Amino acid sequence: MIEYEKIVPWGRSYTEYVSMFNLTPDFLSKKVLGCGDGPAAFNGVANAFGGNVTSIDPIFKLSAKDIEKRIKETFTEVIDQTKANMEKFNWEQFGSIEGLGTIRMKSMKQFLNDYEQGKEEGRYIEARLPELPFGDHSFDLVLCSHLLLLYSDMLDLEFHFQSIDEMLRVGKEVRIFPVVDLNSQPSKHLDKIMKRYPNSELVKVKYEFQKGGNEMLRIEHDADQKS
Ligand SMILES: C[S@@+](CC[C@H](N)C(=O)[O-])C[C@H]1O[C@@H](n2cnc3c(N)ncnc32)[C@H](O)[C@@H]1O
Repeated sequence: MIEYEKIVPWGRSYTEYVSMFNLTPDFLSKKVLGCGDGPAAFNGVANAFGGNVTSIDPIFKLSAKDIEKRIKETFTEVIDQTKANMEKFNWEQFGSIEGLGTIRMKSMKQFLNDYEQGKEEGRYIEARLPELPFGDHSFDLVLCSHLLLLYSDMLDLEFHFQSIDEMLRVGKEVRIFPVVDLNSQPSKHLDKIMKRYPNSELVKVKYEFQKGGNEMLRIEHDADQKS
């Protein structure tokens, strides 16, 4: 299985999560789990707004200081990679590569400021797909941003099946964004995943940083499912 060290710690903003997952304000009254949230600002801001969001990620075994160190180590590499592939992205939202860097760092600092308190409150839990340390039907909504499907070249189909089964075990509804891979091509696993889960659909969203990456995969818990 892929080591999480190969998947970069990179955190998006609360507003990006809201757009990527088509979240309407009523999500703040739901129990939400974010899988692989890493250093995103979503958990901290949503909970400050009265929401009930829990995040899991293997990097939550690290201290804030060590996560900050990893962010700093990978920041330039990620920005340079994006710079080398400028044409694969839409720049209306961020304006420029510098704008992207500024917004990402702001989100990750928001995360770092919230992290120790969030850990104490049980909002940041160290765990990794395909296993989740929660009982059946613990959440209304289970999100996964920029992990499943995006890293299709590193995470095989079986890993996706096991992870989605587990997300559906703990939640009533699963949303995964994006459905394109790191090269902005539709994930090679997508068709097989949609065949396996008949209650799945692609939903257009108002967020498209990777060109063509403006759809999320939504899967509802099947009432006939055993767990
Ligand atoms: C590219 S980041 C995305 C972070 C955040 N979801 C966002 O969109 O801003 C991918 C995250 O997945 C986490 N990750 C890697 N392997 C994982 C696994 N098996 N289960 C859960 N999270 C994992 C990494 O630690 C990292 O924080």
